[in-house]
Amino acid sequence: DHQKYIRNFSIVAHIDHGKSTLADRILEMTDTVAKRDMKDQLLDNMDLERERGITIKLNAVELTYHAKDGHDYEFHLIDTPGHVDFSYEVSRSLAACEGAVLVVDAAQGVEAQTLANVYLAIDDNLEIVPVINKIDLPSAEPEKVRSEIENVIGLDASDAVLASAKKGIGVPELLEQIVHKIPAPDGDVKAPLKALVFDSVYDDYRGVVLSVRLFEGTVQPGDKIRMMNSGSEYEVTEVGVNSPKPVKRDYLMSGDVGYITASIKDITQTRVGDTVTNALDPADEALPGYREMNPMVYAGLYPTDNAKFDDLREALEKLKLNDAALEFEPEISKALGFGFRCGFLGLLHMDVVQERLEREFNLELITTAPSVTYEVKLTDGEDKTVENPSEMPDVSSIKQISEPYVKATIMVPNDYVGPVMELCQRRRGEFDTMEYLDEYRVNVIYHMPLSEIIFDFFDKLKSSTKGYASLDYDLEDYKPSDLVKIDILLNGEKVDALSFISHRQFAASRARDIVGKLKNIIPRQNFEIPVQAAIGAKIIARTNIKAYRKDVTAKLYGGDRTRRMKLLEKQKAGKKRMKAVGKVDIPQEAFMAVLQTD
Ligand code: GTP
Repeated sequence: DHQKYIRNFSIVAHIDHGKSTLADRILEMTDTVAKRDMKDQLLDNMDLERERGITIKLNAVELTYHAKDGHDYEFHLIDTPGHVDFSYEVSRSLAACEGAVLVVDAAQGVEAQTLANVYLAIDDNLEIVPVINKIDLPSAEPEKVRSEIENVIGLDASDAVLASAKKGIGVPELLEQIVHKIPAPDGDVKAPLKALVFDSVYDDYRGVVLSVRLFEGTVQPGDKIRMMNSGSEYEVTEVGVNSPKPVKRDYLMSGDVGYITASIKDITQTRVGDTVTNALDPADEALPGYREMNPMVYAGLYPTDNAKFDDLREALEKLKLNDAALEFEPEISKALGFGFRCGFLGLLHMDVVQERLEREFNLELITTAPSVTYEVKLTDGEDKTVENPSEMPDVSSIKQISEPYVKATIMVPNDYVGPVMELCQRRRGEFDTMEYLDEYRVNVIYHMPLSEIIFDFFDKLKSSTKGYASLDYDLEDYKPSDLVKIDILLNGEKVDALSFISHRQFAASRARDIVGKLKNIIPRQNFEIPVQAAIGAKIIARTNIKAYRKDVTAKLYGGDRTRRMKLLEKQKAGKKRMKAVGKVDIPQEAFMAVLQTD
């Protein structure tokens, strides 16, 4: 009977439509968190999430709701990120739920990730509870948004909750709808244990902490458990729920969302998506788990201090536990030494990984320019996958290079269709279709090289549509393109970590552009440094970084003390995140310069 009073749900939305704020209000109104402990975006518990105001990780929390029917309901709320890079976190949380609260901004309406996320929920057969949020905004048009939800998504929105998460309006009504619309879990408590691992994190004291949703059976401390895919076995030391701080329980049962610890130290044996069962009374088959995520971009991560290579490996292993989409393998760069080639779902993901490594593991890193993966047909008939531009074989042995294409769906008010198409065309897009979603909104679909959209396309899209366009994309296929590798030479020496791939048509202009940027980024030394760009042996652009002028330095030394100190401090700060390559110090920005276009 316990299950009758459980509701497991997720909150999904386009980025910034107010999921985390709504979660805050729900926690507050159910007295899950005492007023004095309440802070904004409570579930965003990483510093990084608070600073940036975005959700990166899913978070599960248990709360008790005293409903109007007089019963107490146990809610498990799973907050999820909205950014396209983190949609794998969304699909993982959905698999643990029976329902999803769909938040749509009353001023912005349905956007690309509203659609993408709600379709994930619909595919999982979840019950959807629509909420129109931010009705307090002067620009709110709740009725227009209601019809968008009906016409564009195809959901009944006649009783969608009109809410302001900021002001707490509509939240009591939403809590009631969660009770009445979202079904209770219905797994068999007496069946062998089947628990889906939807997240995990490494804790120095407790070992691996598994976040689980039980679909069948029970689990308690002392039980012998088996990870069905990896086969490893452990003895449970603790079970509990997050409320939102961890609270021990005597047991967890079918329908519950909580955590399990079992002194698991070997982090490679516990994969997100695996099924936990009882080793003595195992289930017949594992739960479906998750589709593997393939990285979209690769970049090299190198410790600025070469001695920290092993620390970086350990940090990556621990981080992967909490970030299943992260991939890495060791690589050696002539310029940068020992590091890892890492695969990411997008640039935001890459940025977040770098920052988490630096903050949570105290490392200082250099990241090389991200690159997509290329498929190369060689003249000798062999096929090669190239994740690192510097490993692109010599032109003479290449028959064909193919690059990944995506299907990009851009949702935009019809006034802005022109600028969107212009931008896509400039980025080598191939027009597919344009469909009117309703009177105001258009879905523009293009096939585009991933390399053209992954870097600054989204910013350009936003600025050319006054922020109204939203974007979603899916990997489609590899297509042959006329691509060339451009090498950068500093002081006559090739710097492998600066090589990049470009379409031949843009090669000369990009080479000039980047050589010019490097000239400004790389600090002057006491000798002149030639900066060159080359395709094979052919130099296609060049410039020089002039040497220090003696008289300038002399003047500085003669200047007053504070000025000199300031200058030294500035130099010291500038030294941070530099890597000496040969005789030249290269700052982090140099590796990113190849990314910026136009
Ligand atoms: P991600 O976690 O990054 O996907 O964003 P989110 O959907 O969780 O949005 P979040 O709750 O962080 O809210 C985004 C912004 O909208 C914040 O500045 C909130 O203060 C604001 N906001 C949220 N709800 C409301 C509302 O009801 N009214 C108004 N005026 N602003 C709101």
